[in-house]
Amino acid sequence: MPDELVKWQNVESILREQLQRSSVKEIRTPIIEMTELFERGIGEATDVVAKEMYTFLDRGKRSCTLRPEGTASVVRAIINNGLSNNLYQKLWYMGPMFRYERPQAGRQRQFHQLGVEYIGSNSPRSDVELITLAWDILQKLGIENLNLEINSLGDMEDRKNYQNSFIEWLESNYNLLDIDSQNRVKKNPLRILDTKNIETQNLLKNAPILLDFLSQKSLDRYEFIKENLDLLKIPFIENVKLVRGLDYYTHTAFEITSGDLGSQATVCGGGRYDNLIKQIGGNDTPAIGFAIGLERLMLLAGKNLEIKKNIDIYIINKGLCAEALAHKLSRKLRQFDVITEIDISGSSISKQFKKANKCKAKCIIVIGEEEAMNNQFKIRLFSKENDKEKIINYDDNDSLEKWLKNIFPIYSTEI
Ligand code: HAM
Repeated sequence: MPDELVKWQNVESILREQLQRSSVKEIRTPIIEMTELFERGIGEATDVVAKEMYTFLDRGKRSCTLRPEGTASVVRAIINNGLSNNLYQKLWYMGPMFRYERPQAGRQRQFHQLGVEYIGSNSPRSDVELITLAWDILQKLGIENLNLEINSLGDMEDRKNYQNSFIEWLESNYNLLDIDSQNRVKKNPLRILDTKNIETQNLLKNAPILLDFLSQKSLDRYEFIKENLDLLKIPFIENVKLVRGLDYYTHTAFEITSGDLGSQATVCGGGRYDNLIKQIGGNDTPAIGFAIGLERLMLLAGKNLEIKKNIDIYIINKGLCAEALAHKLSRKLRQFDVITEIDISGSSISKQFKKANKCKAKCIIVIGEEEAMNNQFKIRLFSKENDKEKIINYDDNDSLEKWLKNIFPIYSTEI
């Protein structure tokens, strides 16, 4: 609703500015994609694909899905536009995503994400730059009490080796696992690491650790990232159980959580996905990205971002000629970049004054029938020190501009 949107707009404009300052360019993709894209991209065994997608047949009997996330769509768009072999591209998007999850505080079925994807570099510097961007954006919004958790999932080879040994361990402990985890052993064993079940969590303390299966190359890469985050003074915690809910990740995985969000604590999640672009039909192109949940971000962003802009000038008018002049004048004023509101109630001047006061307009213009006949209006600023008032002719742009320049920062003066 309009009042709530003030905070959204303020936060969004800070996000846009920060992204622009970091040379990240916007990309916009459709909300609907072919279902296959997500099945192939995110993985059929993931919760998102298996349980949470809004999928339907269109009139051409094609299976379509409302996007549950943005990464697969960005990758598809890049491939379709022949850009998957281009140089390093830094892209962002913002918009609605859809997941059929159980709604609760911080979890909606239609929610919004700001996503950032750095495509075309496998250098760990790209990981450091991206994680730093995510951290700094949240700092810029004044959000405190955040934890950055990181892990490395290694490459496909490392993961396969780990998975074999982990499955062996899971099978030997099968009867001690909770039902959900038992169901995952065959379908998506790594997700068991993420279980919320306390007993399984305790059991997992004795399970093999993914980190122990990483090749020297993967470990060096991970070390580089940690060292550089340290150098940049970005505090992080290593979480060997962080595996993320989507199948496309390799090497770096990270999440930023907040102690102020309750059970849905993750405000930002991301990681590297070096195989996804090839898997979806593009060139072998490495990439890394993250997404911030905007509803959760709004819960964390402070009251200072709720400040809305008041009306600059409220135009009071009474009588037919006055109404016509008021309309002409409101068009002219907008070209001076001031926020105007014209009273169209036709009620008494005193009632209109009350309304101007109520909406906290910085100044008012009064046009009575007599002023209108002379093509004039009275402009008045309310201030504690002294009220300023002046009668100006509608055609006298110089006087109007001079008066406005005194009161408002005016950027555009062309009429
Ligand atoms: P994700 O972890 O599934 O990652 O979602 C990212 C963020 O979106 C979450 O941390 C959370 O803040 C928000 N979110 C997810 N589901 C909901 C929901 N139902 N209601 C409210 N907020 C939600 C991705 O989507 C990946 N595409 C991120 C990424 C980009 N990885 C690489 N590039």
